[in-house]
Amino acid sequence: MTARVVQVDATHPDPEVVGAAARILLAGGLVAMPTETVYGLAGLADREDSLARIFAAKGRPASHPLIAHVPDLPAARRIAGAWPPLATRLAAEFWPGPLTLVVPRGPSIPRMLTAGLDTMAVRAPDHAVALALLHAVGHPLAAPSANPYQRVSPTTAAHVLEGLGERVDLILDAGPCRLGIESTIVDVTSDPPRILRLGSLGLDQLHAVVPDLLAEPPRAGSHPAPAPGMAARHYAPRARLRIVRRAALAELLAALQPEERPAAVLAFGRAPRLAAEVRALPQDPERYGRQLFAVLHELDALQVRTVLVEEPPDDTAWAAIRDRLRRASAAE
Ligand code: TXA
Ligand code: MG
Repeated sequence: MTARVVQVDATHPDPEVVGAAARILLAGGLVAMPTETVYGLAGLADREDSLARIFAAKGRPASHPLIAHVPDLPAARRIAGAWPPLATRLAAEFWPGPLTLVVPRGPSIPRMLTAGLDTMAVRAPDHAVALALLHAVGHPLAAPSANPYQRVSPTTAAHVLEGLGERVDLILDAGPCRLGIESTIVDVTSDPPRILRLGSLGLDQLHAVVPDLLAEPPRAGSHPAPAPGMAARHYAPRARLRIVRRAALAELLAALQPEERPAAVLAFGRAPRLAAEVRALPQDPERYGRQLFAVLHELDALQVRTVLVEEPPDDTAWAAIRDRLRRASAAE
């Protein structure tokens, strides 16, 4: 059965639509919900049967923990086992917003959510639809990005339908996500606190509040894995993705083998004239981030085999985008 897709206003969601989605969740079903980062595959975070359905729908290994979504700080404190003062400061500053905090797990949260860890990830999303749904349900919602395991995250309802349409009961379509890159994850249980995943909340903003924050996230593929679910290959389009300098684009394109074609180029700013599908992306990291996953979905739909991506600038504003591109280009 294919999911029902219901349009919902991104800023003033219809309470009847939200209520219907809440009933599906309370009955153990799955709802794809918009957030400000990417669409999430939501189920009840405090019910094992819902969590099991999420893992099965994504084809996600049980060793990759999920994020619990809550409407606000008091709701987060209720499900955490302890709440460090730093978590209060960060939540006060950045919630609702694209920041996920790793804190001690509380007793109401099944180990299935945390992949057996004694810590849990929690965030309050900055999206009126997600917040209305959280209030209507009255439970925390587990919501990984609503894509099959290791594929590109969805930033539109159409992406969700394409990837998980047979495995979700309802898709709430509130249009494209405002940020387009997942939340930044900060572990406040370690000393000093550290970033586990780069994301939409920028390093400079975090450093202003937490000067001693360790900003170098664990290297993808390092051993032993410092954080679960940090697979080197992730966010991957079906096409092979290669990060290259602009000056090398034409030569690399010309050298592609027949089985590596058709090829596409993701360029910065003005598109160079090349004999391939060329997508020019903005030179501003926020606008680039908003479009990146949608372009990768589009190139997959065109059955492109190789994507040459012009290397982004080496500065902190681009750190999350460089991270996603690196993971998307990692060998299988
Ligand atoms: O922006 C987002 O965070 C989106 C939207 C839907 O909220 N969600 C999202 O979820 O990206 P997901 O499941 O795709 O990524 C969750 C990440 C995983 O990489 C996992 O390793 C990490 O959170 N994580 C969860 N619990 C953790 C824990 N206790 N310790 C360390 N990392 C944890
Ligand atoms: Mg994901």
